[in-house]
Amino acid sequence: MAIGIGLIGMGVVGGGVARILCDRERELKIVRGLDFDIRKIAIRDPSKPRAIDISSDRFTTDPMEVVTDPTIQIAIEVMGGVDAAHDLILAALQNGKDVVTANKALLAERGDSLFEAAVQNEVGLGFEASVCGGIPIIQALSQGLVANDIQSLYGILNGTTNYILTRMTEAGANFDPMLKEAQDKGFAEADPIMDIDGTDAAQKLALLCRLAFRQRVSSSDILKEGISHITALDIDFARELGYTIKLLGIARAIDNRIEARVHPALVPHDALLADIRNEFNAVEIVGSAVGAQVFYGKGAGELPTASAIVADLVAIAERRKVNLGPAGAPLAPLPKADLVPADDIQTGSYCRLTVHDKPGVLAQIAALFAGENISIETVIQHGRSETDGVPLIMITHDAPEAAMRRAITRIGALQAVTEKPQIIRILHP
Ligand SMILES: NC(=O)c1ccc[n+]([C@@H]2O[C@H](COP(=O)([O-])OP(=O)(O)OC[C@H]3O[C@@H](n4cnc5c(N)ncnc54)[C@H](OP(=O)(O)O)[C@@H]3O)[C@@H](O)[C@H]2O)c1
Repeated sequence: MAIGIGLIGMGVVGGGVARILCDRERELKIVRGLDFDIRKIAIRDPSKPRAIDISSDRFTTDPMEVVTDPTIQIAIEVMGGVDAAHDLILAALQNGKDVVTANKALLAERGDSLFEAAVQNEVGLGFEASVCGGIPIIQALSQGLVANDIQSLYGILNGTTNYILTRMTEAGANFDPMLKEAQDKGFAEADPIMDIDGTDAAQKLALLCRLAFRQRVSSSDILKEGISHITALDIDFARELGYTIKLLGIARAIDNRIEARVHPALVPHDALLADIRNEFNAVEIVGSAVGAQVFYGKGAGELPTASAIVADLVAIAERRKVNLGPAGAPLAPLPKADLVPADDIQTGSYCRLTVHDKPGVLAQIAALFAGENISIETVIQHGRSETDGVPLIMITHDAPEAAMRRAITRIGALQAVTEKPQIIRILHP
């Protein structure tokens, strides 16, 4: 018997899902014994041309029709947004439908009630597509790595910022022109703020923490910093020191607490993550039994994202066929994570100061670092001028965030320091 599918949204991702279900119809029927029938599609504008040819009587502008239709067993939410999508998914789950969604913003901000509703109604809530597009990272964490305690997770979780940083590195360019290039090529949205300020990566990291550590982490509690302050000069100095600058999402289990942070970081050239270029994503996970594993691929786009949705769809349908409940351990209720406070997070730092090169200046700066118990590993200075500012790069050993902030505020106030200091954290493998 055919399984009734309802699509809420048929834009980039929804169009890709419809296309894959059409193109792979025969394969799904013969190899998997699954017959999917798209019975209703909610869209906003009925006059828009659609990616595939589907009879017009399946379209509706009222998404509630999808979640209340008794002939639909699985609803796919690919509409986006938070509140309206939340209410639709909740209604679908309460009506006994399994749901698949690509909506990380919704799950990170209001996921708790949906995960709870899925458990209460004994239905599935698939969200593979919400993190890293086509990379099966959710499946890996919830199934493939189930024999492990996850010790750490380091990821390039946002394709837009990785594209911009890669182009800045390769073209020797500053942030603004490379953001414009990313927008022209379709790798950044017209309003890219959620990508470039780290929000998108923090939302994905919050979801990964839920699976990796089975604790609730709110994306708003994650230490977060974006990439718009990174300059071509920083990228050049980082290269000279043996590093590439990447926006990383990092989560680590430390004793009984979790450290979670999203920020640009100097990544050693020989680390795998340093080689992830352009719009690609990658996640390195260290498990107690398997050691380190790296997942790499396209984190967004029509077909990669749709591929993840269809994977969820098939997993849910196969369990339905044999009357097995939803797959995996329930994701609610979970305890709230005990996060390492941002002030206590320890990292080494790259500090770029712009200084008048006068006798005694270096000693003053070193003394302010020493006052916070921060030791200096490397110093680089190119050029000399007592009247114009010259860059002075200092690499520090690990120190707590709060101590580093205090030291930098005092250093920035020195008369010999002519510009706001630039600080980028360092990834020590
Ligand atoms: N694009 C990606 O690469 C990607 C990757 C990972 C995750 N995602 C997530 O996937 C979701 C969808 O993204 P997308 O890029 O496919 O978005 P999109 O191209 O803008 O498509 C949104 C679809 O939802 C429909 N829609 C919006 N509001 C509606 C409403 N009130 N009632 C009925 N239909 C409505 C739109 O209808 P019209 O077509 O009539 O405008 C459109 O078909 C988002 O949550 C996004 O974060 C996207």
